[in-house]
Amino acid sequence: MPGDKVTARRILKMKGLRPIVAVTAYDYPTAWIADEAGVDVILVGDSLGMVVLGYPSTLQVTLDDMVRHTAAVARAAKRPLIVADMPFGSYEPSSSTAVESAVALARVGAEAVKLEGGSEYADRVKAIVDAGIPVMGHLGLTPQRAMRIGGYRPRARGREEARRLLLDAESLVEAGVFSIVLEFVSEEAAEIVTRRVPVPTICIGSGRRCDGQIIVFHDIVGLSRHTPPFAKKYVDARRIMVEAVTRYAEDVRNGRFPSEEHVVHAKEPLEDLG
Ligand code: KIV
Repeated sequence: MPGDKVTARRILKMKGLRPIVAVTAYDYPTAWIADEAGVDVILVGDSLGMVVLGYPSTLQVTLDDMVRHTAAVARAAKRPLIVADMPFGSYEPSSSTAVESAVALARVGAEAVKLEGGSEYADRVKAIVDAGIPVMGHLGLTPQRAMRIGGYRPRARGREEARRLLLDAESLVEAGVFSIVLEFVSEEAAEIVTRRVPVPTICIGSGRRCDGQIIVFHDIVGLSRHTPPFAKKYVDARRIMVEAVTRYAEDVRNGRFPSEEHVVHAKEPLEDLG
């Protein structure tokens, strides 16, 4: 929905008013498209490791990667809130490391940061918030710790995991987050967390009863090699792009490109030069 600049404070106040629309973007053109489409939040997700850098997981993504991609997104997107992911290793060592990393992202245009984990990282969240940078939490399936938590499987389907999820959400709220991403948790558990916490829940693969939804840009436009079961593809951009590049290759090989309209002519006779 076009209009005024979206801030973290505004996202917080949207809870219960209307669904929050969030999408990832990793570069200038995708951020420009997301902004033009009227999303509320752009997340420069560390999913960029798999989606645009071709890594096997998010673990290879560095703070330098996040800084470069956040800067590109910030140059394009004007209205949505820009949230940058804190990559693996950029906040775990200490609260001061976490603040330094968040400051590096804020300097290039991040208006908030997101970090994965619950009560075990609540002190990092509080330190970043105290430094003046809004923080979005991330619970449920946390890909940076996928190996430790048992792989890419749905979370909080049983009582114990659902109870843990709620406790983690509460400790993040206490630490000062303005919203929480819930990734791949049962719809029932996501609904309980959404009801119990005062900040918006923004869900991916966690059902219909959250305060908002987030999705990976390349999944909705059909540019991902591996699309998760909970994503919805709205267009097959890969097919459209392959067709375009194939037609270009044919035109070059058949002498149809460039044609007169793509050519610039000399202003004065040049024949005598060669
Ligand atoms: O990196 C990412 O794209 C994310 C979303 C799945 C929320 O963290």
